[in-house]
Amino acid sequence: MKVGLLGLGTVGTGVYEIINHQRGNYFASSKQEIVISKVMVRDIDKKRKVDVPAEYLTTDFKDIIDDEEIKVVICVMGGLEAEYNYMIQSMKRGKHVITANKAAVSEYMDVLYKTARENNVSFLYEASVGGGIPIITSLIQILRINQISEIKGILNGTTNFILSKMSDEGWDFEETLIKAQELGFAEADPTADIEGFDVSRKLSILSSMSFGFHIKDEDIKKRGIKEITSADIDTINDMGYVIKYLAHSKLEGNTYYATVEPVLLSTKDIMSNVNEEFNIISINGDIIGELQFYGKGAGKDATANAVVGDLMYIINADFRKQEIVLDQQLENGGIKEFSGK
Ligand code: NDP
Ligand code: HSE
Repeated sequence: MKVGLLGLGTVGTGVYEIINHQRGNYFASSKQEIVISKVMVRDIDKKRKVDVPAEYLTTDFKDIIDDEEIKVVICVMGGLEAEYNYMIQSMKRGKHVITANKAAVSEYMDVLYKTARENNVSFLYEASVGGGIPIITSLIQILRINQISEIKGILNGTTNFILSKMSDEGWDFEETLIKAQELGFAEADPTADIEGFDVSRKLSILSSMSFGFHIKDEDIKKRGIKEITSADIDTINDMGYVIKYLAHSKLEGNTYYATVEPVLLSTKDIMSNVNEEFNIISINGDIIGELQFYGKGAGKDATANAVVGDLMYIINADFRKQEIVLDQQLENGGIKEFSGK
């Protein structure tokens, strides 16, 4: 099985290490040889954190799309239109697609699902929400039986890292953001993290899947965290509260709301104790009640684990199971436009 990789940054490096350097259990014991045989980057001469044979590297997407032996394309480049187009082209050429790109999934999930279906390939995006937390797979499992009416959580590692370090260790905003960038948590343009777009894209994905109509990033009301000062945090803590950056969406009849904003939580609230790059996601289903998912929401290994988990679905041909709910939605006319208010 040959795999093409778009992007060799934080996530791409982790994916490359697991697959080609055989980190982890599966690859040590697997009889099937899996290899990333082409890696697309922007700058071929850049010094890399992982050893990649020079002949694997390319800046030309044709080297991947025209390679008939490549059956899966992993998209961890970032940005929107270019990577979206590469995903669509790959599926039209019969290649399965795996991505961590929440911007593309949030904006174009309807077209991406449809293209996957029309071309009988898999489109998987576990890493797009919650880093290493298997929330997409779990959500699909829950949706087989439940109507989900509410989603709440901390969905961004960078901003949670910033708020925790400011609160617990007295760091200032700028120095904490730089540290989050060094650790590989932040987006290439960290404005997406601190102004809330990264969170609203993730909330858009979870809410659209759960509620059955396409809630786009621009439909979500958001406030960023960059005005929060160390003095604000000290006052909030003195009052016995903790400030957290929360995503929240709720379906009520034919009405929904979806917001991303800093919220004061009691120290008894479980979410107030989620720190650093960790995320927490609470889902409420009518049969199962509330479920909570907790784990590393950003960073190389956690995210690469989710990406390679998707590859395992494809390799084990289990991916059809994961797509049943999405197939049913498509049979009913796809991810619909919202018709309520
Ligand atoms: P990085 O910025 O670290 O890496 C991006 C990689 O893509 C680089 O190797 C870069 O090449 C390459 N690239 C970017 N644009 C182009 C282009 N136009 N043509 C060819 N190559 C290109 O990003 P991350 O690894 O952090 O993130 C990748 C994706 O994963 C994003 O969509 C992000 O939102 C998502 N994600 C990230 C997480 C994280 O913790 N970092 C967690 C979950 C999702 P070069 O190296 O030559 O510059
Ligand atoms: N920038 C994102 C975050 C990466 O900090 O959560 C994970 O999606």
